[in-house]
Amino acid sequence: MCTGSPMQRCLTLTLAWHSRLLLRKKIASVRCHQSAAMSSLLINQPKYSWLKELGLSEDNLGVYNGSWGGSGEVVTSYCPANNEPIARVTQATLAEYEETVQKAREAWKVWADIPAPKRGEIVRQIGDALRKKIKVLGSLVSLEMGKIYVEGVGEVQEYVDVCDYAVGLSRMIGGPILPSERPGHALLEQWNPVGLVGIITAFNFPVAVYGWNNAIALTCGNVCLWKGAPTTPLTSVAVTKIVAEVLEQNNLPGAICSMTCGGADIGTAMAKDERVDLLSFTGSTHVGKLVAMMVQERFGRKLLELGGNNAIIVFEDADLNLVVPSAVFASVGTAGQRCTTTRRLILHESVHDKVVERVAKAYKQVRIGDPWDPSTLYGPLHTIQAVEQYLAAIEQAKQQGGTVVCGGKVMDRPGNYVEPTIITGLHHDAPIVHTETFVPILYVLKFNTEEEAFAWNNEVKQGLSSSIFTKDLGRVFRWMGPKGSDCGIVNVNIPTSGAEIGGAFGGEKHTGGGRESGSDSWKQYMRRSTCTINYSKDLPLAQGIKFE
Ligand code: UN1
Repeated sequence: MCTGSPMQRCLTLTLAWHSRLLLRKKIASVRCHQSAAMSSLLINQPKYSWLKELGLSEDNLGVYNGSWGGSGEVVTSYCPANNEPIARVTQATLAEYEETVQKAREAWKVWADIPAPKRGEIVRQIGDALRKKIKVLGSLVSLEMGKIYVEGVGEVQEYVDVCDYAVGLSRMIGGPILPSERPGHALLEQWNPVGLVGIITAFNFPVAVYGWNNAIALTCGNVCLWKGAPTTPLTSVAVTKIVAEVLEQNNLPGAICSMTCGGADIGTAMAKDERVDLLSFTGSTHVGKLVAMMVQERFGRKLLELGGNNAIIVFEDADLNLVVPSAVFASVGTAGQRCTTTRRLILHESVHDKVVERVAKAYKQVRIGDPWDPSTLYGPLHTIQAVEQYLAAIEQAKQQGGTVVCGGKVMDRPGNYVEPTIITGLHHDAPIVHTETFVPILYVLKFNTEEEAFAWNNEVKQGLSSSIFTKDLGRVFRWMGPKGSDCGIVNVNIPTSGAEIGGAFGGEKHTGGGRESGSDSWKQYMRRSTCTINYSKDLPLAQGIKFE
């Protein structure tokens, strides 16, 4: 379905044609860079010489298990802001994966014997080492992932924060002592590490998500094996160098924090490997499902952080001065590539037009530029494939009755830049509205009653993050209650993205059900033993059973 006058239709078709032309130009430029002589690597340019402060060079080894190695496929990492090659990483072969798992399990024998508060001290040192490199590591995230500098630094800060949290936790892990029904008996819980925690992370948070898992898993007495995204390998290598230095300085086996860079082959090996006691996977719902089935096949443990289709609901009594910056931050921030990004803005009919107008005005003022430029608020998409997905989603939204009120086009500049986009007029259950497209497109919906708005929030497959804007206290408690939001993150008067590390992070349904980071998420990294100890001279049986 295509709406509007013949003139508007003609303009829309011309713009779509122009965007596709720009996309083809970008694809050609990427191919050209890929085939160009590798002497043009950014790391060799004086402007990017700071990369060497992270121990990076033209060619980097992508395996760490106490010593550095890697003899698998060589991948080149590209900068999304200009599609130029930064440097190369040699990934792990399956034989190197095998060797690394063995070394990590050997290292566990040492690590598990160290008392938890002493493990916490090592995690404290990791946090301090990250603090010293926070700016340069944040810059690398910005260069390699494409998010803006403050967000790059922000996610290193998340790792630092979770290290602090884990240090405290190292003196607090405890289980209850429960009343036994039998005289002279003690009933208590003991928590032990699971062993080896496999961590697979996504491109969009190449530091923080590893950090949440690593700091908590280590404190709990586990060793880690990390596979980052194949498109952010330099960040994986740089983080591992920082962590490895701390372990080595403390004369601990480096394999406590192992890394095998790689693609689906290494990911599949981890999912199928009985020696990986817990697999923490962050990524798409599609891949997460495949991973979950492989882990379930062997009755392994998994922790899944998958997609989101997050909504902000704005009621008639909302403070619009909070709504507008929240909607802009949560939908435009990280160029729409957070799992917590706001994808649906559900507006009460009485404020719909006003909010759309104000948010669209704010969108037009978002400063677009090089992600590492401190004044930039909006950078490129991570890959050219994401640009294709962006265009395809806009086409589908139009076909399903949507109107593009802002953005909608690929930008005529180097790199994977697209305009942040607002689309109105779609039905709340239009297929595209129920699809998580990992790009900056915001679908605006109009509602009438609270019941309807809560139902629309919950009707999508995913259940990660959600927010309402209201001053009505009763509504706040209904939102948090059994008939309110079914998400893992349930906010009031703040955006859907930007969660703190102190809370448990994760969501329900197709989001996977896992919880990472704060609160009692540590329990997922440990196994619980229920211990009953008889300290008497008699043997009374539970339930009063006599067996004589
Ligand atoms: C993610 O997008 O995978 O709440 C993680 C947030 C961040 C983490 C996002 N603290 O947006």
